[in-house]
Amino acid sequence: MYELGGVLVTRDEIKSMVRRLADRINSDYAGQELVIVGVLKGALAFLSDLMRELTMPVILDFIIVSSYGFETSTSGVVLLRKDVDVDIEGKHVLIVEDLIDTGLTLKYLKDLFWSKKPASLNICAAFDKPNRRKAPIAAEYSGISLGDDFIVGYGLDYAGLYRNLPDVRTLVEGDDAKAKSNIMQGMEA
Ligand code: IMP
Ligand code: MG
Repeated sequence: MYELGGVLVTRDEIKSMVRRLADRINSDYAGQELVIVGVLKGALAFLSDLMRELTMPVILDFIIVSSYGFETSTSGVVLLRKDVDVDIEGKHVLIVEDLIDTGLTLKYLKDLFWSKKPASLNICAAFDKPNRRKAPIAAEYSGISLGDDFIVGYGLDYAGLYRNLPDVRTLVEGDDAKAKSNIMQGMEA
């Protein structure tokens, strides 16, 4: 079984990361209305912290996605389970994600959102694993870069658990390779 490993990113580090990103977003979108779209469930904690630091007029919406087959498939399958409710045509849109791993989820979401004709579309992600990319995706607002370890907490889950942890921790297990391939099957956003 998997157990919680050590703390990789502390609450204080998360707090200053949110502050740093919010400062940039506030200055880039000053005086403009912004539609922020949280990718549930993982982005909930980050979105909740980030939105309260934003100073422009904000419209909040959510999408829900599930992703499957990261280790076995090169293309990736992303399932959209809930689309946005607001009409984003002509709006400035910021997609808020927990973590960019392969980039396949955001590749899919960017294509989907551009088809809705927003005035602008940018990505804000709390965490980034740049070494694991399969799609050429970069967040305009990127929080903390990490290695390849599977992480939980601050919205991120393993098998639905640990999203409520206030800091980010690793998962540890005896047979690391096996752990990774099991974890990557049927992963929820
Ligand atoms: P993608 O590989 O960039 O498409 O990542 C899709 C989603 O998988 C992320 O937004 C996370 O919700 C989830 N994910 C990727 N890596 C991890 C991890 O280390 N822990 C928990 N969830 C993860
Ligand atoms: Mg996610």
